[in-house]
Amino acid sequence: MARNLSFAGLMVFVLFVSSSHVAQGVELDSICNKTENYSFCFNLLNSKVGHGTTGVDLVTLAQYAIDVTRVNITNSMKLINHLMRKNANSPEASDHYYLCLKDLGYERGALAHVMAAEEALKVGDYSLLKIEATSIQIFIDACIEGESPEDSPYHDTSRLPKYAHIIGQVTDIIVIISNFLYP
Ligand SMILES: *[C@@H]1O[C@H](CO)[C@@H](O)[C@H](O)[C@H]1NC(C)=O
Ligand SMILES: *[C@@H]1O[C@H](CO)[C@@H](O)[C@H](O)[C@H]1NC(C)=O
Ligand SMILES: *[C@@H]1O[C@H](CO)[C@@H](O)[C@H](O)[C@H]1NC(C)=O
Repeated sequence: MARNLSFAGLMVFVLFVSSSHVAQGVELDSICNKTENYSFCFNLLNSKVGHGTTGVDLVTLAQYAIDVTRVNITNSMKLINHLMRKNANSPEASDHYYLCLKDLGYERGALAHVMAAEEALKVGDYSLLKIEATSIQIFIDACIEGESPEDSPYHDTSRLPKYAHIIGQVTDIIVIISNFLYP
């Protein structure tokens, strides 16, 4: 009997250790393995998990990635407003940044899909979460590459394409997490 009890205790211990390991190491690795830049992904998610923290789950990570996306898009819109003032004399630049602002905005752009992604996560609709994260990406791409394939992309030397690339990497992480949540 005593032997069985200690065996049970050992099993509980093993399960505890392996589940906390899954939450921290293996899941981050298996998520970030699937991204284009492992270290970008790992640095981002690990900053949320934190050292010594156990039991951070996929939903928490997805919410974090959505929050980062929202902040990154909001900052990109601030940059665009600045670029519009700076390039007010160039009709081509003004057109480009005007469309970008619409692509990123609340009304019919990326931020609308950020809110929808958050709602989908809240109600546990992970297939919708994936669709919304993909939609965010489509609007970010439209800003950088133009609305349709025939458009020749505006040659943008500002920081905006770099910001857009980062947003793309973060939404990619949301898509990958949604694949884990909705296999
Ligand atoms: C993915 O992560 C695992 C560890 O979790 C590692 O063993 C494997 O080599 C990684 N695969 C790639 C393609 O990096
Ligand atoms: C990957 O992301 C890191 C930032 O975490 C960056 O320093 C590095 O240049 C990126 N690598 C590539 C190949 O884009
Ligand atoms: C985007 O989010 C990351 C992670 O929070 C942050 O390091 C980076 O400065 C942000 N970039 C912009 C333009 O907001």
